Amino acid sequence: MSSTQKSLYERVGGEIAVAMLIDRFYDRVLNDAQLEPFFKNVPMDKLREMQLEFFSAALDGPAHYSGRPIEQVHKGRGITSHHLSRFMGHLLATIEFVHPNEREKQEMYGRIGLYGDAVLDDPLEGSE
Ligand code: HEM
Repeated sequence: MSSTQKSLYERVGGEIAVAMLIDRFYDRVLNDAQLEPFFKNVPMDKLREMQLEFFSAALDGPAHYSGRPIEQVHKGRGITSHHLSRFMGHLLATIEFVHPNEREKQEMYGRIGLYGDAVLDDPLEGSE
């Protein structure tokens, strides 16, 4: 099978790589004083499990996402584009640490970034 036929999920290293990414990613997010308060009282094991399914599905992997719709989960929590940009910054730093090649880095970051608007309570801020 040529590399163009493989899913992004396979190209970045499959379940082990994605699970490692999620773990490191949330370690970074929870160490960010501006993001950590959002995750108070959130069962992190369950969140990591849902995020593993979500990432896997977003990268065309085998998992089916069984969590709640992204918009429904995030709306009303006061998440602004400032928070999203910090969150995405941690994601990029984590992906760089796991170091797939440049194309895969961009693809992965782009796939997750597609959902950014759905988590915001200030979606119009970017158009000012
Ligand atoms: C592209 C950006 C994002 C994606 C794709 C995403 C995805 C997800 C997913 C899949 C879940 C699990 C849903 C479930 O358990 O049914 C979740 C939960 C959660 N997310 Fe996000 N998220 C994003 C951004 C953010 C940001 C920026 C914050 C806050 C700064 C945030 C805070 C939370 C919290 C607090 C939960 C747990 C909700 C709960 O279980 O009560 N998320 N997110």
